[in-house]
Amino acid sequence: MNFRISTMPVEEYSAAEWANFSTQVQDENLFLAMKYLKYALLLKPNNMSYQRKLAILLARMSRMEEAIEIFCKILDEDSEDRRSYKAMGETLLIQANQTGTIGWFSFFEATFLYRLIKGMDNPAPVIVELGSCFGLSSMIIAKALSDKPDATIYCIDAWEGDGSSVFDKTRDVVRNKAKEGISFFDMFSNNMKKAGVDYQLIPIKSYTTDLAKIWTEKADLIFVDADHSYTGVRNDVRDWKKFVKVGGQILLHDVALKCAGSSEDSAPGRVVNELLGANSKFSSGTLVDSLYLAERLR
Ligand SMILES: C[S@@+](CC[C@H](N)C(=O)[O-])C[C@H]1O[C@@H](n2cnc3c(N)ncnc32)[C@H](O)[C@@H]1O
Repeated sequence: MNFRISTMPVEEYSAAEWANFSTQVQDENLFLAMKYLKYALLLKPNNMSYQRKLAILLARMSRMEEAIEIFCKILDEDSEDRRSYKAMGETLLIQANQTGTIGWFSFFEATFLYRLIKGMDNPAPVIVELGSCFGLSSMIIAKALSDKPDATIYCIDAWEGDGSSVFDKTRDVVRNKAKEGISFFDMFSNNMKKAGVDYQLIPIKSYTTDLAKIWTEKADLIFVDADHSYTGVRNDVRDWKKFVKVGGQILLHDVALKCAGSSEDSAPGRVVNELLGANSKFSSGTLVDSLYLAERLR
């Protein structure tokens, strides 16, 4: 087959040479870099390294959704491809940042959460997020469920007006915005609108322990990321784990089971050991950076 593009036959160069040209020009002209990479992919469509380069280029051109789709396909083929794993997480966090949404996820955690949600078999999954803050995890969850209109995503947070329920640096952000007449909840809401996912989310302004007393719905996934004190995490896991369906999952953040430089487990780490360990109804878990995932077995 003889592909003719402009005046140059594609076969004049090898796929590797086109990919090399792409790398050489990409600081000056992203469109040209893209064109060369497409030639390389025309000759070697299944080459994972070219696909990854294409996804990274798309992200640099702010075409985040397309980039994420390609990263997902690469990782479906090879979930051990750490470079794609990291680059996809970076893309997800840049996408969130572009809407003003900040949070505390590592690149690996962002990718892990997105793929976990995207990979759910249930066409109408129920997700309960305890602790939404400015909406980083809410946004990742919603983006991953954009092709499942029957999914339900509850975003539960106290969104206290004085920011007293958040960490120090964040508290200042919340208090400064309050002076401009923008509440903590407005910040979440505005971010989700900018990200185009607000219609997918059901925010509930409440304390998690209060809400658990009247809650009835079972969930495919409960994500515990609210009060990070030992008592707070313990109460959340104690109150909410019964709402995970059998076969569903519980996810916790900041479970760095031995924090660097410390012999102490983090509060979420202690709670995992005490309430989700051996003899609980949950499987042993998977840890990705400090995200801990376990499945309810019975
Ligand atoms: C670490 S942040 C959540 C981060 C969020 N998941 C993300 O990815 O950006 C913790 C959030 O939990 C909320 N929170 C803390 N204690 C709470 C409680 N008892 N009930 C409800 N929300 C609470 C705080 O207001 C804060 O927004």
